[in-house]
Amino acid sequence: MAPIDLSIDLKFATLKNPIIPASGTFGYGEEFQEFFPLDQLGAFIMKGIYKNRRPGNRPPRIFETPSGLLNSIGLAGPGAEELKSIIRRVRKMTDTPIIVNVCGEEDEEYLEVAEIFDAMPEVGMLELNISCPNVREGGKCPAQDERHTFRLVKLIRQNTQKPLIVKLSPNVSDVPAVAVAAQEGGADAVSLVNTFLGMAVDLKTRRPVFKNIFAGLSGPAIKPLALRLVWLVAQSVDIPVIGIGGISTGRDVLDYILVGASAVQTGTINMVEPTATLRILDEIRECMAELNISNLEQIKGALEV
Ligand code: SIN
Repeated sequence: MAPIDLSIDLKFATLKNPIIPASGTFGYGEEFQEFFPLDQLGAFIMKGIYKNRRPGNRPPRIFETPSGLLNSIGLAGPGAEELKSIIRRVRKMTDTPIIVNVCGEEDEEYLEVAEIFDAMPEVGMLELNISCPNVREGGKCPAQDERHTFRLVKLIRQNTQKPLIVKLSPNVSDVPAVAVAAQEGGADAVSLVNTFLGMAVDLKTRRPVFKNIFAGLSGPAIKPLALRLVWLVAQSVDIPVIGIGGISTGRDVLDYILVGASAVQTGTINMVEPTATLRILDEIRECMAELNISNLEQIKGALEV
């Protein structure tokens, strides 16, 4: 059999493998360099960033559930200026593409932040975070509205040059329609899904665990839900789809590729097993050898129904 080749073609970039640690689960990359070389990754995504420093939500911010994790971080972050210095430092550690997760209170702020990082040669791509459930009342976000998604993506696309990934929400009745709106606005790829809205309650205090009442659920518990949405979206758009949701094994990665994902983002697993990427990469190779395939294109979107 030909040697195993894990590289993937996103049309706008070739990555050495399909594993991209997701925003918010991998710090700013440098924290993980002590566990394994960042060069092992396909790419990695910085924690979401606004123009100014944000303290995030009041604690508690996380709550463990069966096979999952609820979070309500509220996109805490150091602000764009500080992130620029971090990126310059991290760039010296690795050539692996750095993706900046762009946030904004309003469309104007999204644009301002996108332009700041679009101008940095150290940044490879932008991911537009229109799907965080923890910053607006009731978990609302721009990705819940097709027209807003189209308008915002178009605004960013018309004013920036770098590849633009749009991160979608599962908390909407028609995810493929929002994916199409992102594509029509000019997205180069969509990533999905962000966390599912959930909640936890405290029987003693008779109060919700989280100050915002709702929080975002991630982890293995959501994989079947996310896999379905990735499959539906992959059939609806022509741009690459990046699968996210409960990936913790090499087998999970291949499942997402089979339903049409070009690459994947790992999330919650990075918080419980910082070196998970290395294990997952080994497992992908083993699984590919068992399936007698030498590159991921051989199974991409090959699901038969
Ligand atoms: C958070 O910071 O609350 C989570 C980030 C996200 O869901 O995009």
